[in-house]
Amino acid sequence: MLTDQNVGLFITGGIASYKMAELARLLIKQGANVRVVMSRSATEFITPMTLQILTKNEVLTDTFEERHPEFVQHVEMAQWADIAIVAPATANVIGKIANGIADEIVSTTLLAHDKPLIIAPAMNDRMLSNPATKRNLALLEEDGHTIIEPDTGFLAEGYEARGRLPELTRIVDVVIKRHVQKGLRQLLHGKKVVVTAGGTVERIDPVRYISNDSSGKMGYALARAAEWYGGDVHLISTKKSMVAPEGVTVEYVESAREMQEAVERQYDDAQFVVMAAAVSDYRVKNKADQKIKKSGDSSDLVIDLEENPDILAGLGAKKKHQTLIGFAAETENLIENAMSKIKRKNADWIIANDVSKDGSGFNVDTNEVTIISSDKSVYQLPEMTKLDAALSIWQTVLEAEDRS
Ligand code: C5P
Repeated sequence: MLTDQNVGLFITGGIASYKMAELARLLIKQGANVRVVMSRSATEFITPMTLQILTKNEVLTDTFEERHPEFVQHVEMAQWADIAIVAPATANVIGKIANGIADEIVSTTLLAHDKPLIIAPAMNDRMLSNPATKRNLALLEEDGHTIIEPDTGFLAEGYEARGRLPELTRIVDVVIKRHVQKGLRQLLHGKKVVVTAGGTVERIDPVRYISNDSSGKMGYALARAAEWYGGDVHLISTKKSMVAPEGVTVEYVESAREMQEAVERQYDDAQFVVMAAAVSDYRVKNKADQKIKKSGDSSDLVIDLEENPDILAGLGAKKKHQTLIGFAAETENLIENAMSKIKRKNADWIIANDVSKDGSGFNVDTNEVTIISSDKSVYQLPEMTKLDAALSIWQTVLEAEDRS
């Protein structure tokens, strides 16, 4: 997602500096060109050589070590970076950036950088809650920089508190969002978007259930992309183990009926509802309150199933201002089946995918979807990652709605 983006990684001296080798690798894996600037104290925790080898670029550690007479290196670096990340950001560098101080290579280069910074503070909890640090962080936010909230967890001091560097994937997500958002009209700004994701879980007894192969990845990608388009996104998910997308509110449910209740609570003030969840068509009729034991007399166990409500059709029946987007996993007659689903459920769009194809549907990272509207427009997309498919789905839907 960061192909050919120039990312400047500014490392200052905290124990989390050692994680920056991995952050550089993750950014490079996303296609970014990475160049590193380190404060002198950061070099006490990780060597410039490590970052030079990983990034294949020289690492700046000293303002006056000018290796290229044809330009001033910190000014050149500041202008080269499309995106600048300060991680880990110490209380010291936060204070310097907030107050325009430039007295070593990191702060001097950042003063010459003219775009908003991404700052990931990481420090001891007492330093973080010091009024001076809080004041400086507030100043940075006022100036339009993005502060990634530190995690609460096990600190180097040996106790649990707020101040840990967030998971590196969260930092990468913020960088990707910054890059992708540059090219997106904020067509969902001020709009509430409800997305459902994952297969519903229908309990047989407290330890057993019926579900399906849905990974939730498509729903999560749609929620993430909707947030990038500026939406106020509420994700209703059955997947507790998946990392919540940055900036998205997540509500966890299990069964189809819980999902229905959760969606309906959000429905009145929602502008878009995306039913990406694979809702079980049936649930267990007589769910056991205790674990079912083997009978011991070799007789069969029979589980009776009863039909679940069709959530999408229910929403369609009482639709007012909302745009309803459903999914259709098909193995044949993709378009005809999707069209009839639009009618039957009073949906506005159906995203159809042929689940019999290798790179499409359940449990894979890619999808090949066809987007079908209630006015019978058909947009066929090639196979792509679920995140790219999600961006294309929103682009198609939002541009069509914008035209009408
Ligand atoms: O009818 P079918 O299951 O193929 O429809 C798929 C679409 O309907 C999906 O968007 C799915 O989330 C939604 N659905 C629902 N409630 C059900 C079954 C499916 O909302 N009980």
